[in-house]
Amino acid sequence: MLKKYRVSFYLLLLCANQFLVVDAQQKSISQKVDSVLRLMTLEEKIGQLNQYNDDWTATGPVTLDNSKAEQIKKGQVGSLLNCIGTERSRNWQNIAMQSRLKIPLLFGQDVIHGFKTTFPIPLAEAASWDLDAIQLSARIAATEASASGIHWTFAPMVDIARDPRWGRVMEGAGEDPYLGSKIAYARVKGFQGNKLGDVNALMACAKHFAAYGAAIGGRDYNSVDMSDRLLWEVYLPPFKAAVDAGAATFMNSFNDINGVPATGNKYLQRDILKGKWGFKGFVVSDWGSIGEMINHGNVKNEYEAALSAITAGSDMDMESRCYKNNLAQLVKDKKILVAVIDDAVKRILKKKFELGLFDDPFKFCNAAREQKELNDPEHTKIAREVAAKSIVLLKNQNNLLPLSENLKTIAFIGPLVKALKQNKGFWDVEVPGVDSNFIVSQWEGLQNKVGANTKLLYAKGCEIEGDRKDGFAEAVEIAKQSDVVILSIGERRDMSGEAKSRSNINIPGVQEDLLKELLATGKPVVVLINAGRPLVFNYTADNAPAILYTWWLGSEAGNAIADVLFGDYNPSAKLPISFPGSVGQIPIYYSHFNTGRPATNDSNHNYNSSYTDLSIFPKYEFGYGLSYTNFQYSNLQLSKKKMKAGEQIKVSVTIANSGKYDGEEVVQLYLRDKVGSISRPVKELKDFKKIKLLAGESKTIKFIIDKEKLSFYNQQLQWVAEPGDFELMIGTSSRDIKLKDNFELIQ
Ligand code: NOJ
Repeated sequence: MLKKYRVSFYLLLLCANQFLVVDAQQKSISQKVDSVLRLMTLEEKIGQLNQYNDDWTATGPVTLDNSKAEQIKKGQVGSLLNCIGTERSRNWQNIAMQSRLKIPLLFGQDVIHGFKTTFPIPLAEAASWDLDAIQLSARIAATEASASGIHWTFAPMVDIARDPRWGRVMEGAGEDPYLGSKIAYARVKGFQGNKLGDVNALMACAKHFAAYGAAIGGRDYNSVDMSDRLLWEVYLPPFKAAVDAGAATFMNSFNDINGVPATGNKYLQRDILKGKWGFKGFVVSDWGSIGEMINHGNVKNEYEAALSAITAGSDMDMESRCYKNNLAQLVKDKKILVAVIDDAVKRILKKKFELGLFDDPFKFCNAAREQKELNDPEHTKIAREVAAKSIVLLKNQNNLLPLSENLKTIAFIGPLVKALKQNKGFWDVEVPGVDSNFIVSQWEGLQNKVGANTKLLYAKGCEIEGDRKDGFAEAVEIAKQSDVVILSIGERRDMSGEAKSRSNINIPGVQEDLLKELLATGKPVVVLINAGRPLVFNYTADNAPAILYTWWLGSEAGNAIADVLFGDYNPSAKLPISFPGSVGQIPIYYSHFNTGRPATNDSNHNYNSSYTDLSIFPKYEFGYGLSYTNFQYSNLQLSKKKMKAGEQIKVSVTIANSGKYDGEEVVQLYLRDKVGSISRPVKELKDFKKIKLLAGESKTIKFIIDKEKLSFYNQQLQWVAEPGDFELMIGTSSRDIKLKDNFELIQ
């Protein structure tokens, strides 16, 4: 045998062997699960499907219940959420150990973007297009949370969102299914680490299944009306990626889809998730969503709600108590088989075994480890790097940025300069014993950065909201004394998040009026925009010479912003979602269809698909973001112009850094299927590469086009690639396409 084949043969054997080991472990876990199940009464089984909120924090409407401890002792509770810290979780686990079968509790928590160390909000991290950084951020969150007694995070949220009025746009990865899927995969891997059972692994939960991000009008919890094609092509892919990454759990969603609440949706949970995709984990409802099906008008009472949810495949009931109060009766009435309950219980017990909780229920309750992990300086360092990678440079007229180290005086103005907790954004975690102001403010970050020769002046100028302008004079006064003004404005951290939908997404209050007065001084003004969503800020966009979109960056916000302002980090982020120029354009996304009467510019409204009073273009498009350096694209080559379904085309393109700073570029590959049995979008992101280039350096990068990249769901919902012509576009954003070519898929 040739040597290389011998090596592959041994590799194959090794892999096969590994599969056998994993298989054997799974087998023994399922035997253990069965042996526990055999001992359980129906009441204890139903208990495993019941999840309660602890009293530490509430992330939903609270039901007062003083008998939780008693219920846990009776084996009537399988899981708690919002129980943080080793001390607290040890207490509850001790109570569970007093139950007849001593089945350990599972502790779940919204660990969305960091735990003690807060990382940028998920939408900001998505802007980094840096999958390694995103995975690492989730890894650190998992390391801290698992050291603090938590087994399971309700993240990642993988909902595609195309409506910035929806407050939860901050929690996802933006508008695009391809980017969203890559990020979903990275986040699941990051949270779960090498394998469940490791002491620093946190179970992931892909949510909200499904299409929660498409709430009509961007109003949270609202209905979703969606074609199957859109569901499969745009909204489901990130969930499938989460399954592929091994996500341990899923959460269903509050919304109905085409009239059927997701919580009671058999098509989604049984047919697609557990059926077609073979998902072996368990599904938790969203907070109270089983009971809320009564409000949806889909079931009459809690009895019917429980029947609908369990039949549809919702395994665990978060907080509605419908399962606890009705499942036994449903069995008695022969409305459901015990086997249906057994299946849900088994899925949950399996995870408890995989985590190692049956071997040691207190495995995640080690106070010394908690202390160590919550105080690891490495976490802070990485949070700073990820935050810098998430900042998007939107505008940089006359290369105002980066700022020089020799500036004599800088005026740092605005309501967010000295703010602390604001920088964390929505969904930070209140960790017991940790000062919630564990944060580097923007002011402190700038102070840390500048040398003794630079004087810093501060004025608040105005509040985030309201119409008071009495602080303007002081702000203008210090601006006049300075070489450069930095203005930090935006929304409040809790203006974007759950139940934070807004119809007006302009920069609130008089903040843009303040900018106007500062610009009138003639001083150069750099604007920092802090927000959880794309805001509308046309005055700023059109008049400020330099703009950084800083989102909410977390614990290290101040240091990261200063790193970017002074060029210690050259911005490389790209928008993961289109920024509208007006709410009237929403929903606006780059991968739209062409229509029969496409508009190509804003001046011609001759019976074409445009607005007579608004641009057809977003203010800033998907994939947009500047750098302090310049990149030149050249030499696009395709290995062939015709390919058969089983073949590949190799694409190469050369990128050169022609500026004077080292920098990173996200090279984006878009395709257009020119003619399809279903109309295809004008372009779709199909690949990207983030590369680092030293000043003056150039690199040739490669992409592969295969059948998968050319496929879509046809009318019968089959995943097919249809023969025909394709356009290939390489761009620095979805609008700024640098190079193009065509190829053909042949029979
Ligand atoms: C409701 C939210 O929709 C969900 O994402 C979250 O995980 C739960 N509350 C628990 O806090």
